[in-house]
Amino acid sequence: MNRLELVRNEVDEILLCQPNLNMRKDGYIHLYGVAQNCTLLAIKRGLDIELCTIIGMLHDIFTYKYEYVINHAILGMDEAEKVLRKLDVFSDDEITIIITAIGNHSDKSNKHDKYSELIKDADILQNSLYDTSNEINHPKRMRKILAKFEIKLKIKEIKN
Ligand SMILES: [Fe+2]
Repeated sequence: MNRLELVRNEVDEILLCQPNLNMRKDGYIHLYGVAQNCTLLAIKRGLDIELCTIIGMLHDIFTYKYEYVINHAILGMDEAEKVLRKLDVFSDDEITIIITAIGNHSDKSNKHDKYSELIKDADILQNSLYDTSNEINHPKRMRKILAKFEIKLKIKEIKN
């Protein structure tokens, strides 16, 4: 089995143990959706496709395992590392890339490394494209992502 499928099996196991069925459903939709966006953006940006897709699969694992959102990016670093170490098919450098991106992904106002920026964008894309009539949390970032694909979308901004 390839490494992506190994990670997906672990994520599926975690989601299956989530007793809140709405949370479980959201987990499947969001994690698989973000992972596919990661794949697309990795192709576009010339980054490692496998690592990017795995970052997408694991980025919110803390939230969907424990139904807990506060500080989930930082807390998710350990959770993701546990999964990756258990599988024993990733190098230390690969694990560092993956968990660093996960740790940074909630900080969408600042700029980090390429993998961190990719997961932030993939996250915003999934949330926005799930229902384009919803208001968008990071309209500037969203416009920039879509512009790279030469897509113009009327975006409803969240009014604070
Ligand atoms: Fe997310």
